[in-house]
Amino acid sequence: MILSIESSCDDSSIAITQIESKKLIYHKKISQELQHSVYGGVVPELAARLHVEALPKILEECKEYFPKLKAIAVTNAPGLSVTLMEGVTMAKALSISLNLPLIAVNHLKGHIYSLFIEKEENFPTTILLVSGGHTQIIEANGLNDMKLVASTLDDSFGESFDKVAKMMNLGYPGGPIVQEKGLKGNENRFDFPVPLRQSPNIEFSYSGLKNAVRMQIEKLENEGSLTEEDICDICASFEKTAVAHIMQKMKKYFKSNRPKNLAIVGGASANIRLRTAIEELCSKNNTKLFLSELKYCSDNAAMIGRVAVEQYKINEFVTVEDIDVQTRLK
Ligand code: KG4
Ligand code: ZN
Repeated sequence: MILSIESSCDDSSIAITQIESKKLIYHKKISQELQHSVYGGVVPELAARLHVEALPKILEECKEYFPKLKAIAVTNAPGLSVTLMEGVTMAKALSISLNLPLIAVNHLKGHIYSLFIEKEENFPTTILLVSGGHTQIIEANGLNDMKLVASTLDDSFGESFDKVAKMMNLGYPGGPIVQEKGLKGNENRFDFPVPLRQSPNIEFSYSGLKNAVRMQIEKLENEGSLTEEDICDICASFEKTAVAHIMQKMKKYFKSNRPKNLAIVGGASANIRLRTAIEELCSKNNTKLFLSELKYCSDNAAMIGRVAVEQYKINEFVTVEDIDVQTRLK
């Protein structure tokens, strides 16, 4: 079995995965959403302090599995350096005290392998990765054969939901809140511009849309107060545009590539409007669509453990001295 630890942002999570069967033996996650909600976003130092409390609590529940462990795995990049450090420090301590090899896992590979929890891996697949930190199209042929095809020039898809929610003091994370408010709103009331519509490149940008939303909120506030109806209409109009941007670029990608398989992963892949639009695109193009289970879309250690199983099989280990924490990856 492999014990895996995830602490790249605001979720403290530990999992235990059986190597041969890929079975998830244990999985627990303590989310900090509530504590960060008052600030409208993740406060790194607070997140790190909460990991210090939560991770040992979860680990305590895993002690019975210690004699069966063959390796310790941990997310080491990308993420918030102060929070990654908490998981990595725990992993190093376990590796030394239990005399087990250490596996450093790329968080984004984790999101991709959330597709394969308790399953065999299945490549090649084009991946649309939408999370709080990333908006990417990746062509994945295997664990260490992945090509980044497109990414965002500034904010990510999920992040733009978080920022729009923050502008209206709706709480954190913004994705589910904006989605819910949007369901009650009129998506045609505000005509926000679809980002990079004229650009021939397949790339993303969300800061312009975010600013357009900010200006609209300020305009409404200057005219009087922002009503619940206004908020719901802004959420609906923003979400429609945010998804239209991804879809315009995905259609462009499909035109020149027409992938056989497509998967959407990452916390923001829970977005219903995006899922529905991608489903439609795939069925029109005879592309097989893969989605990870909703409970594994957001950050968790089960997906890190699933990557670790593959790294274990090819002896992809790292030493306690060499493991480093990286905020961003080249
Ligand atoms: O993958 P994840 O848990 O953390 C990162 O690795 O970033 O993704 C969290 C992000 C947040 O920005 C959150 O607002 C967004 O995913 N999110 C959504 C939805 N649910 C979560 N964004 C849009 N619509 C949703 N339904
Ligand atoms: Zn993530």
